[in-house]
Amino acid sequence: MTKYEVLQERLRSNQSTWLVTGVAGFIGSNLLEKLLILNQKVVGFDNFETGYQHNIEQAISDAESVTGNNLSGNFTLIEGDIRDATACKQACNGVDYVLHQAALGSVPRSIEDPARTNSANIDGFLNMLVAAKDAKVKRFVYAASSSTYGDHPDLPKVEDKIGNPLSPYAVTKLVNELYASVFEKTYGFKAIGLRYFNIFGKRQDPEGAYAAVIPKWVKSILEGEDVFINGDGKTSRDFCYIDNTVQMNLLAATAENDEATNQVYNVALNDQTDLNQLYEMIEERLIERTEGLDKKSPIYRDFRAGDVRHSRADISKAKSLLGYEPSHKISQGLDESMDWYVKSLGAH
Ligand SMILES: NC(=O)c1ccc[n+]([C@@H]2O[C@H](COP(=O)([O-])OP(=O)(O)OC[C@H]3O[C@@H](n4cnc5c(N)ncnc54)[C@H](O)[C@@H]3O)[C@@H](O)[C@H]2O)c1
Repeated sequence: MTKYEVLQERLRSNQSTWLVTGVAGFIGSNLLEKLLILNQKVVGFDNFETGYQHNIEQAISDAESVTGNNLSGNFTLIEGDIRDATACKQACNGVDYVLHQAALGSVPRSIEDPARTNSANIDGFLNMLVAAKDAKVKRFVYAASSSTYGDHPDLPKVEDKIGNPLSPYAVTKLVNELYASVFEKTYGFKAIGLRYFNIFGKRQDPEGAYAAVIPKWVKSILEGEDVFINGDGKTSRDFCYIDNTVQMNLLAATAENDEATNQVYNVALNDQTDLNQLYEMIEERLIERTEGLDKKSPIYRDFRAGDVRHSRADISKAKSLLGYEPSHKISQGLDESMDWYVKSLGAH
C-alpha cells in the first residue's frame, strides 16, 4: 500500500475538522470533495471573487455519489474575505488542519492590478497565518507556486534554488514562503508550502480573461473558436493533475516527521510538455469525445510578459519526506479532465 492509501484508511475512521480557504475555486472544491469522501468535517471559506457556489454543490454531490451517503451535514460555509482578520479568526476556530488556497491567481492579472493581487495574496495570507497560529491548528498547508523559481535557469527545479520573481504574482507567492518560514523561527509555528506547477482538472474555470491554458483551450475548441498559442509553442510546463495535488495536501497536512514540516515542496510530475504537444493531446481527446469536431490549427502570437520559458520540477523531496507517489501522468489526467469538460460544457 502507498503512504497515501494508508492515510486515507486512517482518515476514514478518524474524523477531523479541516478549513479549506478558496473552497469555491478549482483546487479548493476538489479538496472539499476528497475530504468529504474520507468522512472528514470541512469548513469552507471564500468570498466568491473567482469561485462559484456551483463548484461547492458539485463537490458535495460528487462525494455523495462516491460514498452513497448524505454529506452536506459535514460541510459549513463561511462567506468571507481573507483580507478581514476577524473573519479569518472565526474561520480557524476549532479547526485541526488548514489548507489555505484562497488567493488571486494569474500572472497577467497581477501585472494588470498588482495592488489587488498583493492585498489578497499577502495581507490575506498573513491574516490566515496569524489566525491559524493563534488557534493552534495542527498544521497550516498553503498554496505556493512554481512562479517562485522566476528567472533561475536550472532544470529540473529543485526547492532550494530559486531566482528572481518575474511578476507581481510571483512576488506575493515568494513573500508567503518568507512569512511562513519566519513564523517558524519566531513562534515555532510549522507550515508547509506547496509549490504548484500548472495544476489542471475538473472545475478549473474556462471563463474570463485570466483562465488557465487548459480550460481556456478546451472551451475554444469545443465552441469552434480560434486557439491562440503565446510564443512559438515550445514553451513547456510540468502539468500536474488535480488528484496528485489533493494527495500532496493531505500528505503535507498529516506528516508526522519533524523534518517534513517548515518546508516547501514541488507539486508536479517531473515531466515536461510543450504547448504544441499539449494542444495536440487536448484536441485529440476532444475530437474522440465530440461528434462533428474537426482538427484545426492554433494561431501563434507574441510571447506573454512575465512567463517563464521552461518549467519542470524535481519531485524527489516530496517523495522522500512525504511519501508522495503521483497517481496520474498528464495523459491520464487529460483523459479524466476531458470527460468532465465535454460533459459539463456540453450541458451549459
Ligand atoms: N491552478 C494552478 O495551476 C495553480 C498554480 C500555482 C498556484 N496556485 C495557487 O493555488 C490556489 C488555488 O488556485 P485555483 O487554481 O484553485 O484558483 P481559483 O481562482 O479557482 O480559486 C481561488 C479561490 O479563492 C477565492 N478567493 C480569492 N480571493 C479571496 C479572498 N480575498 N478571500 C476569500 N476567498 C478568496 C476565490 O473566490 C476562489 O474560490 C491559489 O492560491 C493559487 O495562487 C494555483
